[in-house]
Amino acid sequence: MAHDEKPTNPTVNRPFRDILEKRLSRRQVMLGGLAAAAGFLAAGNGAAATRRAVVDGSGEDRAPGGERPPIDFTPVARADGGGPMPAISADYEYQALIPWGTPLKPGIAEYTGDPATRPSAAQQADMIGIGHDGMWFFPESARGRQSSKSGILCINHEFGRNPHVLGKDSPEDLEDVRLSQHAHGVSVVALEERAGQWRVAPSPLNRRVHVNTPVTFSGPVVASHAGRELLDLNARPHDARGTVNNCSSGHTPWGTYLTCEENFNGYFGATGDWAATEAQKRYGLSQDGFGYGWQKFDARFDLTSQAFAHEDNRFGWVVEIDPQDPGARPIKRTALGRFKHEGATVTEAQDGRIVVYMGDDQRFDYIYKFVSADNWRSMRSRGVSPLDEGRLYAARFDEDGSGEWLELDIGNPLLSDKFSNQAEVLTYARLAADALGATPMDRPEWTSVAPDGRMYCTLTNNSKRTTADAANPLAPNPDGHIIRWRDSEQHTGTTFTWDIFLVAESTHGGEDTFSDPDGIWADPDGRLFIQTDGNQQDGLNNQLLVADTGSGELRRLLTGVSGDEITGLAVTPDRRTLFCNTQHPGNGDPTKTNFPAAPDGITIPRDCTFVIRRRDGGIVGS
Ligand code: FEO
Ligand code: CA
Ligand code: CA
Ligand code: CA
Repeated sequence: MAHDEKPTNPTVNRPFRDILEKRLSRRQVMLGGLAAAAGFLAAGNGAAATRRAVVDGSGEDRAPGGERPPIDFTPVARADGGGPMPAISADYEYQALIPWGTPLKPGIAEYTGDPATRPSAAQQADMIGIGHDGMWFFPESARGRQSSKSGILCINHEFGRNPHVLGKDSPEDLEDVRLSQHAHGVSVVALEERAGQWRVAPSPLNRRVHVNTPVTFSGPVVASHAGRELLDLNARPHDARGTVNNCSSGHTPWGTYLTCEENFNGYFGATGDWAATEAQKRYGLSQDGFGYGWQKFDARFDLTSQAFAHEDNRFGWVVEIDPQDPGARPIKRTALGRFKHEGATVTEAQDGRIVVYMGDDQRFDYIYKFVSADNWRSMRSRGVSPLDEGRLYAARFDEDGSGEWLELDIGNPLLSDKFSNQAEVLTYARLAADALGATPMDRPEWTSVAPDGRMYCTLTNNSKRTTADAANPLAPNPDGHIIRWRDSEQHTGTTFTWDIFLVAESTHGGEDTFSDPDGIWADPDGRLFIQTDGNQQDGLNNQLLVADTGSGELRRLLTGVSGDEITGLAVTPDRRTLFCNTQHPGNGDPTKTNFPAAPDGITIPRDCTFVIRRRDGGIVGS
């Protein structure tokens, strides 16, 4: 979602400007090509700092073995990349799969985008939702072999605005609200390939998780009476329900899916007199939210409702879903903190601890990581979730190319001065990270771990930045950049070194032009898949590109349709099939596009998944 909310972080944690010059003069030597960077400092704008910033010289940017990863496909030309239909490389093909309205249970007709027949709320609860976003493919596994032809896709349905879902600006009754709510959440859907075509497989595992699905809370916040009070679970222990604005995702080594609640604030509103607390302001709760209007007919989303006190604190979490157990409740993992979670990228450290990297997508918000208390296998063998015990940190990027992970621990006097207990620290993680002096970033979106252990993170843009710092070097930064870092101690340490991989503005005017990086995935060969969400220049729709992390070379694999964003990345184990999504095609306007239907000017466009394959059956991205 190309959100344009007001920033809610009032803190400016570090006085960067004077020390920034030292950082840049050192980087000038390191980067060579950024020799003009000092100029941007003096001029106070980004014009001279926009060259391609791919660091080289250490050799560690190369793919394993020092080989340049092969990216040999014919790119989609700039001239071919706009309009109402997708465009894909001549070496590739796509199939549109699971559009919004695809039934997951027998006996329901597919919703085809006919404006005269919308699904009922009850039907939508058993159909693919709208706003396709983060996802992962869990292959079917038999006798130790993983299939690349069948498996379970878990896919987020981030959002669908009322005109798109309901055909009107505001709900008129509870049925309208329920239809909107059931279009949000997550789908668990069995997929199979037959005769070269992918389709939904009938399966008892097919299910929807949505805004009214019963959920469970777990971890440190619910371990104490004080923490349960924050979630109103002492008074209302049995009515925890739902997940919303499910943005990006993650997956665990034990086979579960992580769905991340991002702009939950937009679904709440107030029907009466209401004043935001300091924390509610920091999380962007407001009188009217994003205009969904749920609060008018569903008191749970009414900030003035006494019956549903603290309902807003029940959102903003990472939620674990077991794709193999349709009876298992989704579990909100409070140890990972509450903020506007973009994604949750899980990696395993050498000692078997798991590390979860997470962006908080708002202007001037932070990058976080969670490190489990112990080896994940031994924790699970003791019956403890590795996501329930561990340490949570926020990142501070220093001007000299180093950085520190600041632990959100009530034992720190900076936090014990402000918070009463660890449950408060986790529930109000944004305010805790403010107090610790984390670095306000230009909207942290996805993270991905490259085969050399380095982390990549997209910073999509920040039109409101007025003061540059070393890690966010453009002020304003309308088109975004990609930062990367290497943690000490194979992801578990508290220090790191970092540099900037790519500044989007540096591509403008060239054949590989892009803006607003959002989804990323580093493949095992040193390629970085980059997806965009925002106004692209040079007449392009949003797009999927592939970068060589060694040379910085970029090629455009796919462009979407007018008004959409390209998001969500999953691959089969053989990497011959890649899934990605068009989200909000045409922004729901049938005069812009009717995709996946052929152009007719009438059919409502529907979010769907692209199944992408090389025509020669090769590895995707090559
Ligand atoms: Fe849901 Fe930050 O995009
Ligand atoms: Ca989005
Ligand atoms: Ca985005
Ligand atoms: Ca996103």
